[in-house]
Amino acid sequence: MSGLRQRSRVVAISGGCGDIGQATGRRLLREGFRVILLDRAPQDAISSDLSGNEGLTYLYCDVTSNESVDSAFQKAVEIHGSLDVAIANAGMVANEPFLELDETNLRSTMEVNFFGAFRLAQRAARLMVKQPASEHGVRGKILFTGSWVQDMPFPLGTSYIASKAAVKMMAMVMAQELASEGVRVNLLAPGIVFAGLSKRLHDADPEFRDRVAAAIPLNEMQSAESVADAYAFLCSSDSDYMTGSSLLVDGGATLVKRS
Ligand SMILES: NC(=O)c1ccc[n+]([C@@H]2O[C@H](COP(=O)([O-])OP(=O)(O)OC[C@H]3O[C@@H](n4cnc5c(N)ncnc54)[C@H](O)[C@@H]3O)[C@@H](O)[C@H]2O)c1
Repeated sequence: MSGLRQRSRVVAISGGCGDIGQATGRRLLREGFRVILLDRAPQDAISSDLSGNEGLTYLYCDVTSNESVDSAFQKAVEIHGSLDVAIANAGMVANEPFLELDETNLRSTMEVNFFGAFRLAQRAARLMVKQPASEHGVRGKILFTGSWVQDMPFPLGTSYIASKAAVKMMAMVMAQELASEGVRVNLLAPGIVFAGLSKRLHDADPEFRDRVAAAIPLNEMQSAESVADAYAFLCSSDSDYMTGSSLLVDGGATLVKRS
């Protein structure tokens, strides 16, 4: 991770107060980044070990609102002057059988997971194309939290899976269009994480963890820290030659365990 330590770079993470957002923020602070956690959740959702860190900034940001995203970006630039990495990570899930799928839930899932990611990514890209390039020609990096289900069906998941599949294709088109502008665009696809959205499913059904772990070839749910580790790589200059990629870190979940 040598590239991470060259200078204090700035990363903004939407959904930054969530479990994966905070784990990623914690890891990137250790790597010497200045970290901006963007969330519609209040600042006191940030754990105490993080909130006192001088490299950390919290900014209110609701990704369903253009005004809110604009305002957060304006403040971020006022505070830090530039933005090296933007991670579109805010997300929600509403699982339901297809026959009963409520169009309102489908729309709100797309609004947060897809349109929210779009809003963040477009603001970041517009800012980054005007920044000076690094020695590898990089003006900025835009990353998305996808999911292992972005490429495969899973029961009850229509809204969530469709939103993540849409994000993946948007990321690829962006990567193609922005390559010549020096903006790298990649996606991290975690598996089933014992944190955040899936942890809440576990809390509602304590057997969920064992049932899910039994379906994962590596036999255990993923930690938020393993997602953060992969983000540390994608944020570093070690990934400068990557664009348009989806980095799958899922314990083999997509292989589908057969025994
Ligand atoms: N937990 C998992 O198993 C898992 C697996 C793969 C991918 N993911 C993805 O990881 C990302 C983070 O999820 P998590 O598991 O940490 O869940 P989480 O609920 O802990 O975090 C999600 C965060 O997004 C924020 N958010 C929701 N709507 C928002 C909005 N309109 N504007 C701004 N912020 C908003 C929430 O306040 C929350 O802090 C999501 O994109 C999710 O789809 C999670």
